[in-house]
Amino acid sequence: MSLKRTVSGQTETDGTCLAIVLAAGEGTRMRSTEPKVLHQIGGRSLLLHVLNAVREAGCKSTAVVVGPAADSVAAEAKRASPTAAVYVQTERRGTAHAVLAARNAIARASNDVLVIFGDTPLVRPQTLTRMRQAIADGAAVAVLGFRPAEPAGYGRLVLEGRELVAIREELDATPAERAIDLCNGGLMAFAGNTALAILERIGSDNRKGEFYLTDAVATARAMKLKVMVVETEEDEVRGINTKAQLAETEAVLQQRLRKAAMEAGVTMVAPETVFLSADTKFGQDVTIEPFVVFGPGVTVEDKAVIRSFSHLDRAHVGKGALVGPYARLRPGAHLGEDVHIGNFVEIKESMIEAGAKVNHLAYIGDARLGAGSNFGAGAIVCNYDGVAKHRTDIGKGAFIGSNAALVAPVSIGDGAYVATGSVITQDVPPDALAIGRSRQVVKENRAARLRQMKSAGKKKVAE
Ligand code: UD1
Ligand code: CA
Repeated sequence: MSLKRTVSGQTETDGTCLAIVLAAGEGTRMRSTEPKVLHQIGGRSLLLHVLNAVREAGCKSTAVVVGPAADSVAAEAKRASPTAAVYVQTERRGTAHAVLAARNAIARASNDVLVIFGDTPLVRPQTLTRMRQAIADGAAVAVLGFRPAEPAGYGRLVLEGRELVAIREELDATPAERAIDLCNGGLMAFAGNTALAILERIGSDNRKGEFYLTDAVATARAMKLKVMVVETEEDEVRGINTKAQLAETEAVLQQRLRKAAMEAGVTMVAPETVFLSADTKFGQDVTIEPFVVFGPGVTVEDKAVIRSFSHLDRAHVGKGALVGPYARLRPGAHLGEDVHIGNFVEIKESMIEAGAKVNHLAYIGDARLGAGSNFGAGAIVCNYDGVAKHRTDIGKGAFIGSNAALVAPVSIGDGAYVATGSVITQDVPPDALAIGRSRQVVKENRAARLRQMKSAGKKKVAE
């Protein structure tokens, strides 16, 4: 990135856009101890969605405005976008006041300044680009408008002819203004060279006594500057204030993600029952049966099939693998090509190599299962001794009999065979047979006598 000096002696980056993300609200209506912008949809925080959108829209510098004592929000901002500058709005005195908390960033004169709310996660980068374009076309202020099904609560866009003259907050609106159906989505773009001058002229003469960002429109017009409206659909500007709105927004995002997956060639029998994360990655010709949940960090390679009621989280599914029904892949589960993971099988932090099969009722954690091995029904790895986790290593082509318990740390050599029901506490060399169970005893004709004894005992009790 090249830096150039401006007249004022400030530095400026290429084709610059500064994004100011407002996240200082208290979010009281969420009824949560978590800050609002850290709530998640599609497996990532609202703040991360917004930060990704501004980055994709080409904004290289980002300022996040947080409330006092919002260390967790600042940390999430830094994690998502290490170069983001964090500003604290110590008193909550309105949206324009919040933007001015980032005054130093605005003073660094970028071409355009995008102001975006941290609780509006579905905005598309293309829409942000359209707003930046309005500034490039000569507007000093661009407003994102939309026509909501239910306008109550939103600021109304007051037009004269085709020109936007003001935004009226609902509390301050006349009945005629309240009847306007074109509303303020909350997002605004400013030309960098006039942004501060406009923002600093905004007063707090309104019912709430707050500094409204929306007054930027009337202020810019009073300064003889050009104002433009960019219109978009309601889904993009859904703001989240309550848990119900969080769920509604999640539903919209899920529809987007499912559609994108199907457009990329994924087959979904009942897409409305499949839950994806924003970062779920699919290869070609993947099939997903109904009722599957993808947590964050999942990759599914070509031709894999995920059967019903499976739950995957930070896992990798190799080419042609078959997972489920009722499988659980926990963080660090890595399945190679053509692996089969069947019903009621849980895999955690383990490498399951190509062609290995774990078909029924098994647990594998902190382990390697070699290529072509078979891990029997009900067999488990005992990786945790109550204090520490230990590893299990199983070689290629091994056979682990049903209901075996492999007590880690332990290793089973290539081609070895562990007998059904064994408790394995010592390493098994390659190609060996290990049996670790008590020998069976058979007593001829004892069944009838045993029954006699038992029923005699019962009668005694009854008498
Ligand atoms: C705002 C707009 C309204 C628009 C609506 C769209 C204003 C005055 N009103 O109303 O026209 O239709 O969004 O959703 O801008 N915030 C701070 N510090 C503050 C106040 C707010 O950081 O002092 C942040 C909040 O965390 C939130 C955002 O600014 O992310 C918007 O604030 P909020 O109070 O939700 O505004 P609305 O009443 O929804
Ligand atoms: Ca809001």
